[in-house]
Amino acid sequence: MAEVSFDYTNLIEVEGGITEKELSEITPRLQAAAGKLLEDEPGFMKLPETREYADACLRTAGEIRSSSPTDFIHIGIGGSALGPIALHRALNHPYYNQMPERRGPRIHFAENTDPATLAAILDVAEPEGTWVNVVTKSGSTAETMAGFLVVRGMLASTLGDFGYQHRTIATTDPEEGFLKRIADREDLRTLPIPKDVGGRFSVLSPVGLLPAAVTGLDIDALLRGAAECVREVRERGAEHPAVVGAAMHYLMDTARGRNIRVMMTYADALERVAAWFVQLWAESLGKDGKGSTPHGAVGTTDQHSQLQLYMQGPQDKVIEIVQVEEHPRDLEIPPAYEDLEGVGYLGGHTMAELLNVECDATRRALTEAGRPNATIRLDRISEENLGYLFVALEVQTAIAGSLYGVNAFDQPGVEASKRFTYSRMGRPGY
Ligand code: PA5
Repeated sequence: MAEVSFDYTNLIEVEGGITEKELSEITPRLQAAAGKLLEDEPGFMKLPETREYADACLRTAGEIRSSSPTDFIHIGIGGSALGPIALHRALNHPYYNQMPERRGPRIHFAENTDPATLAAILDVAEPEGTWVNVVTKSGSTAETMAGFLVVRGMLASTLGDFGYQHRTIATTDPEEGFLKRIADREDLRTLPIPKDVGGRFSVLSPVGLLPAAVTGLDIDALLRGAAECVREVRERGAEHPAVVGAAMHYLMDTARGRNIRVMMTYADALERVAAWFVQLWAESLGKDGKGSTPHGAVGTTDQHSQLQLYMQGPQDKVIEIVQVEEHPRDLEIPPAYEDLEGVGYLGGHTMAELLNVECDATRRALTEAGRPNATIRLDRISEENLGYLFVALEVQTAIAGSLYGVNAFDQPGVEASKRFTYSRMGRPGY
């Protein structure tokens, strides 16, 4: 069972917090938004109960893993990269690629256009044992397709003109797009990104499942946690904490001017989960002059970087702490320097204890300073909990879209720069 909870007490009890009256006034709108969501469930809510994608990914991952692979290059950007990276960073060893006993090939994410990064990946990947997963729902994102052409060229020069085909997976729309056409033409392995699932909502589709399975993560547990959240949302509707959170954050922005939402994860492993969420919230809600600005931070690191601003800067933020009760590893702090009161007190405690005490202390300091804050608590960092969390935040974002009155599932604002790029790079028709 997933153990993920949401605590909004300090959005209500903090000085100037959300009032009972505001909450009761927004309830009918929240109920309507939840009703609409459940009446016509978006594609992402169906993913956890769709067995066929997990089976296809497990099959493909099995083929890859049994081929003595050395490297797996995942090429994608935005929603086609952030979810898989979040999963990898949360659940695999931080130095996974260097670990001799890791459960799969080294994994590399080519998530940006920067040639320095892709060239560095090609410096270390061994062409004879490299697999490539090119991930683009539209099938024509310039950054992704350029990266694919480069990697394909590298593989072709080692394995022969068509040798790369046996080691290439095209994760894309099942019916249309240029990547699908290439896959058909060259008989590449394909995995589908369902038509009704947009990029930033696709982490539980083959976009996130294949790389997770290749590195040996338990995708069944991931989907189990996600399905649990879907079931709870169906049962509880507007009373589900993730749904309630949509109203809380919406009110904080629109009624209190707290238009920055900082997700501060008290675990390095969750840093890229915050990055995933930043895209989800920003690209889904930032429309028609509306939306609050998401930002990622890490505790305790950013206590020594940004906390001053959160404590005493403009009253324009909600700090959302993500707390992990039991960390995957812990280290005892050995007693030493007991005669030095500024150091000696640390001995006998543990690093995880210090991390969690600092997390509690930050929450308390923020609250006492009248700074609104919320907490998402995970009992541990596990596949199940992450599956639950992904769905909960996706539901929350979709519901917030209804409250703001924007379409959470499109991104018209990113099209203009794409058109300029196509025109400058000479794509026909632009
Ligand atoms: O969430 C989204 O829809 C976007 O961030 C896309 O994922 C991103 O633009 C990449 O698109 P594609 O998967 O078509 O290459």
